[in-house]
Order: sequence, then C-alpha cells, then structure tokens
Amino acid sequence: MQKLDPSKFVHVTNQRYRQHYHITTPGGWLNDPNGLCYFKGYYHVFYQFHPYSTEWGPMHWGHVRSRDLVHWEQLPIALVPGDPEDSGGCFSGSAIIKNGRLYLLYTGHHYYDDGDLDHFWENQNLAYSDDGVHFTKYEHNPIIEAPADNTQHFRDPKVWEHDGSYYLVLGSQHQGDELGRILFYKSTDLFHWESCGPIIESQGKDTEGWMWECPDLFSVNGQDVLVYSPMGIKPQGKRFLNTSQVCYRIGKLDYQTQRFTGSQPAELDHGHNFYATQSFTTPDGRQLQFGWMSPFDETPQEHTDGWACSLTLPREISVVDGVLHAQPARELAALRHQTDIDDEVRVTGQQVLTVSDPQHTELALKFAETPHDFSWILSDQDGALVSLAYEQGQLTLTRRGNDPHRYATVTELDDIRIFVDTSSVEIFVNAGTTTFTERYYAKGLVELALAAERECQLHVQAFQLK
Ligand code: FRU
Repeated sequence: MQKLDPSKFVHVTNQRYRQHYHITTPGGWLNDPNGLCYFKGYYHVFYQFHPYSTEWGPMHWGHVRSRDLVHWEQLPIALVPGDPEDSGGCFSGSAIIKNGRLYLLYTGHHYYDDGDLDHFWENQNLAYSDDGVHFTKYEHNPIIEAPADNTQHFRDPKVWEHDGSYYLVLGSQHQGDELGRILFYKSTDLFHWESCGPIIESQGKDTEGWMWECPDLFSVNGQDVLVYSPMGIKPQGKRFLNTSQVCYRIGKLDYQTQRFTGSQPAELDHGHNFYATQSFTTPDGRQLQFGWMSPFDETPQEHTDGWACSLTLPREISVVDGVLHAQPARELAALRHQTDIDDEVRVTGQQVLTVSDPQHTELALKFAETPHDFSWILSDQDGALVSLAYEQGQLTLTRRGNDPHRYATVTELDDIRIFVDTSSVEIFVNAGTTTFTERYYAKGLVELALAAERECQLHVQAFQLK
C-alpha cells in the first residue's frame, strides 16, 4: 500500500456550513458512497475521498463506521491509490463478507500519462480486512480486466451472493455504439470471475445515456431493482434536468438468460443534488441506500472552508404495489432531541414555525386531505433559499440561484417529511415515493415557514435534531 502524507491533508477552517448529522470528510473532498456493509457489529460506509484538497483528485477510500447508523466514527483511510493495480485512483466499489473476512471490490483507475485526464483505462481489484479497519490489497490484482468490446469506461463493481455463488454488476460503455450498459460477472470464490456479458443496455445517448455508472442491483419485496447513474441524458420536459441523474427500473434479473427486464427508467430523486447511490442489506433484511449530494458542475460553497460535499441520509428502499419508496432509515428517530411542535394546524397565508434550531430540524407534515395549494419555505436574511410548493398535482422545488426549479408529479399529497441539516435539505413526500435532495447555504437567521393561499389543515410535528 502507498504511503499517506497527513502533513499535507486539508483541514476544516470554518464551521458555518458543516453538517451535524450527515457523513462528510474530516477535511477534503468527498464523492460516492462505497463498500456499504455490516461487519462485526458495525455499519461501515466508505466514500470516494481526496484528503489533499477540496477538489476531486486521486481517489482514496475514506471510512466511517457506526453501531446505530446515527453516530459515525472516522477511521483511517482504507485504500490509498498509487499501486500498480490502481495507479491513478481507487474508484468506487462495494463490499461483501465471506468467512468472517470483509472484502472490498473496487475499480483501479489508470492514466496514460499523456497529460489528458480524459484518456484512461480501468480494471477491477480486491482488498480485504479481518478487523474492518486495516485493509490489504490482494497480491494477484487485478481480478477483472475490461472486455475487448468495451471503451475505457469500466467501473464501480457492486457484488452480492445468490444461491451459493457470487455475482457483480459493472458500469460500462460499449465500444461499438458508445452507449451505456451494465456488465454481469459470476464467481465461486471472489477471486476468479467469469464474464456473462451485458444484462441491459442504453437505447440511446440522449434518452438513456452514453455511460452508466454506479450500478446497483438488489431484491426487495420480491422484486428486483436496478439502480444506476446514467451520464448524458438530455432534459425531457420537466424531467432529467440535472447534468446526470440516478435512474431505477423495477423488474427481474434472470440468472439463466443473464438479462434484466424491467420498467422504463425513472428518476430516483427530483432535487438538484443527488447522484452515485449504493445500497446494502442490513442484518434484519432491509435495503439501505446512501447517495452523494453531488454539486455536479457547481463548486460547493464549503470548498473554501476545507471540506467539500456530504452523503445523504441512509434511506430504506421498498417496493409496494410496484412503486418504489425511499424513506429515512427508522434509526434516525434517535436524532430527535426534543419535540418543538406536535399540533393540528390550519394554514392560511404564511406562518413561521417556532422551532428551537431551524437548521437542525425534522418536520413531519400529515395532511387531512390533499390541499388546494401548499408551500414549505426555508429562508434566511435575504429571503427564500429552498421551497417546495404543491398545486394541482405538481410539486415544484425552488432554490435560490441559477436553474432554480425542479419538479415532480403526484396524484395527491398525503405527507411530507423534511430533514434540515446545516447545509442540506432532504424531502420525502407521500411515504418516500417522491424525494428531493438539496444543498443550501444560509446567511444570518434561518426560518422555516408553511404557506397556503386557501386554508389547509394538517398535523405538524417538528423535532429538534441532535
Ligand atoms: C461517480 C464516479 C464513479 C467513479 C467515481 C470516481 O461519481 O464517477 O463512476 O468510480 O465517481 O471518483
């Protein structure tokens, strides 16, 4: 393993935007969640990490663990790039436990050293640990090389066990048509992998994407769900408005034909800042997903404070009557420090909520019936920063700044749960069938308010979060 130089690590210099209960770095840049698992009494989350600056750079694997999914402890960096198998970076990957040993499968990223960062090649590698803290790279890496019909895009292995065999999916791009696809591999021992070809491929660059990153495939409530991060989908009306998005399809993976068939791609989240998700199965059988609150092409404002980006909260994924739900993990109830509001409320006009710490609050709103119109607003000294408005079956999310609006369609409005942290908002509508993930940067005093033009009746709970 390569050496680290902690004397050059970036440190947090200003706490103003620092998250209180989301996973972030101790200093430095973060992107995708990696290696999610439960091992020897701890939940483990790894993340794409550049400890030497607040910009993306040679990728390390940062590492936190928790006994309860609420309190996270930073651990030493798990993977350091620069060995022959990962000369240019340890890119995203996943974890699996076999015979009491924790294995990480990750992408080795390599540059051709011609000064062009868009000219690279990728392979797949293995590392392991018996204590869940210290990792050893496998001496015979790499374990998978790109197939001949692939372009340079070949990354992000997601591994699982099924009927005594191991399987993984990989994000990739087909060389012939330059479209995204998901490759499928099989193994009996995690070290030797048989290529089974693509299980599904993009049908068009602008409509479905030219490269599919971060695939995830899991079974939940008797359905198989494929989640992936396609690059290059062009906006379609009020859909696909971000640079890239996370899509999902509900269907079936056929282990015999080695094909996935399912629904049309749908956006998993409707906010400005959601990408590169991964999930894992908890010991009690729930599917928990983390994502990266990606700034996409914008620079996150905390970059001048010695850190950049955070993960989302863990979300429980379920499929009920063919509909995907993503709800905050039930463990997060442990964040509730005190109940600020628990009342029936009639809203007409704009009404400020009296809460003890607006930037660290969970709101649970339950509507008596679908309102005529309704808004939730987070504002600072300069006015509204983030708001969510409902009217006539449409939800409109508005943030301050450029490209302000994001949308989702709902047939009715039953409930909304909102988690506000120092610089993020996560909104779960109708039991998590629609979600929005947003970063925000407040100046001065922050307020939370509800508004309605026509009187609207709802039950409001507000919890101050630790
Ligand atoms: C997604 C991604 C992955 C890659 C990683 C590199 O955000 O591009 O495909 O493994 O980030 O940091």
